Amino acid sequence: LLLLGTFVHSKTQQHLEFLHNAAVAVDEQGKIAAIERDVAEASEAQARLLTQLGWDEAEVDVTVAAEGQFFFPGFVDTHIHAPQYANAGIFGKSSLLDWLETYTFPLESSLADLSKARRVYTRCVRRTLSHGTTTATYYATIDVAATNLLADLCLSMGQRAFVGRACMDNPDVNPDYYRDASAAETLRATQQTIDHMRSIDPGFDIVSPILTPRFAPSCSREAMAGLAQLHRETNLPIQTHISENLGEIQLVKSMFPEADSYAGVYDKYGLLTPKTVLAHAVHISEEEAELIAHRGSKVSHCPCSNTSLTSGPARVRWMWDRGIDVGLGTDMSGGYSPSILDAARQAALVSRHVAMGIHVPEGGGAAAVEQEKERERVKLTVEEALYLATRGGARCVGLEDKIGGFEVGMEWDAQLVSLSQVSDDGGMEEHDHGHGLVDVFGWESWGDRLAKWLYNGDDRNTKRVWVKGRLVHKRK
Ligand code: GUN
Ligand code: ZN
Repeated sequence: LLLLGTFVHSKTQQHLEFLHNAAVAVDEQGKIAAIERDVAEASEAQARLLTQLGWDEAEVDVTVAAEGQFFFPGFVDTHIHAPQYANAGIFGKSSLLDWLETYTFPLESSLADLSKARRVYTRCVRRTLSHGTTTATYYATIDVAATNLLADLCLSMGQRAFVGRACMDNPDVNPDYYRDASAAETLRATQQTIDHMRSIDPGFDIVSPILTPRFAPSCSREAMAGLAQLHRETNLPIQTHISENLGEIQLVKSMFPEADSYAGVYDKYGLLTPKTVLAHAVHISEEEAELIAHRGSKVSHCPCSNTSLTSGPARVRWMWDRGIDVGLGTDMSGGYSPSILDAARQAALVSRHVAMGIHVPEGGGAAAVEQEKERERVKLTVEEALYLATRGGARCVGLEDKIGGFEVGMEWDAQLVSLSQVSDDGGMEEHDHGHGLVDVFGWESWGDRLAKWLYNGDDRNTKRVWVKGRLVHKRK
């Protein structure tokens, strides 16, 4: 595979790198074998790479990013509930705990019917791929067969995925119709999904299990400790929810008096590890942030969900300041959108709400100047939002050596993005958001283009998607 044109990726949190007139060669294993950049013409970059690698031009499949197009790393969704695709957009008047009871648990339990699960999961995987999500960290349901089916579908449709069977054995919180009979059952069922994924993808190259205690209230102490033990034996990743909603936090406090915080519960039962992804972390305290950073656990920021379910605005800058790695999650259907581009946009907007909440004293003075500066600082930039969507997410799920950017040795998980193009007859061929009107505005840097994509773009701009070198989505 050979890709030619402009490539854009995050170098650091603050910095996007643009490779123009570049060529990227991808080998049969889906790995980036070589990169040639900054030559006069992309065709020259191609010629150089073919010579360097000794590849035969006739045998290479070439994709060119034309004018107004660029290659960008595939998005990483660090937290999404596949079964909930079926009720995306339906969150009613409720907040977390009654939303779970009213909408979520009935929906999830109904997917024990495998024909329903197949329909919902196929559409979920297809739709997220079409939005450029090349890696998804999924919650499935408690049903083993349906969870295994989700893993099968990700593998066959080519989406890199962590697939977790939701573990929930606490009879006081989970409804009778939707829970594990015991902690032993939780562990047995989880093991069955691990065995299945090992049988379909022995190296867990594309599809990997992830240990999934749903959240502290849904699990017994034995189940949490058992899953932690399983993590220590297998080094499999862990995902759960933390501190999303004030009612939930009260519940955790009353249920686990032995711990002094929500994070403390997970730590006590061995679940705070460097391979743990904690969704939300909206209301965590200074002490909890310190503990999470110390354990090396990651946070999945889910801005669409946090607004939809009125959970609260999570503070990305504040978490970064404390040394916590952060990625983005759609948390569908707590969040209504399957798009990580949308999550990145909403992360930028929510950070502005956090900024607006910073009080600037009236009458000027040094204190006011400081607060104004702080307001500016907490606002996420375009570069930072796109970092969260790609490399930040890759770090969260422990794949930073493989995905999230374009370096030799990394895997080709990428999307071809096309901004608006005016066709010869003057009609818009693409989703138009005012690109290319340079003669009207007199400007359009590549930075501007990325900003326009972040704030105005959607799946219509994503023309092709690859995972590990395999073309997994092509827009008609
Ligand atoms: N906490 C426990 N389960 C869930 C869920 O399905 N969605 C969200 N947003 N929070 C949860
Ligand atoms: Zn969630």
